[in-house]
Amino acid sequence: MKAWHYIILAIVLIILAIQLVPVDLPPVEHDNPGDLLGSGIVDGEVADLLQTACYNCHSNTTQYPWYSHVAPVSWLVAKDVRVGREEVNFSTWADYELMDQLAILDDIYSNVEEAHMPLPIYVTMHAEADLDNAQRQKIVDWAEATMDILAEEY
Ligand code: HEC
Repeated sequence: MKAWHYIILAIVLIILAIQLVPVDLPPVEHDNPGDLLGSGIVDGEVADLLQTACYNCHSNTTQYPWYSHVAPVSWLVAKDVRVGREEVNFSTWADYELMDQLAILDDIYSNVEEAHMPLPIYVTMHAEADLDNAQRQKIVDWAEATMDILAEEY
């Protein structure tokens, strides 16, 4: 074998070997009675946008594409979903205190307006989550209006 054959063989063996490292993709749960979508504070296009662009990382209903089971991508996906759910989990919206809901809406407002969310690396693989300015504005306006509505309850 030529030297480059060994190099390719080594790369293939490394890729195969890292598949053996256990990875904990956060579990999927479809029965979420406290989900934001059932809360009555969001509907129509904004509900669709959140589901399309945010729910894979910020809900219990993550849809894992095939490559999210292949290391090293699986390690990155597992971390983004784990940390994403810790930050904001729309599936458990009803469990948040009103103060926390207001803080999350405020964070949604700024993160979506400044295009920090959805995470840019996610958008490279999910064209449907590549929000245009009008779509961002719809989410931002919704977050602002909903903060006003919830703040009145406070
Ligand atoms: C690829 C996974 C992923 C997607 C898709 C995603 N997020 Fe996130 N989100 C994260 C992670 C990871 C964090 C925590 C790290 C960070 O803030 O960058 C986070 C943090 C947040 C925070 C808290 C930020 C703060 O300032 O405390 C908000 C709010 C948020 N995301 C909203 C959204 C919204 C709204 C969408 C859809 C428009 C979205 N995210 C899409 C992974 C994601």
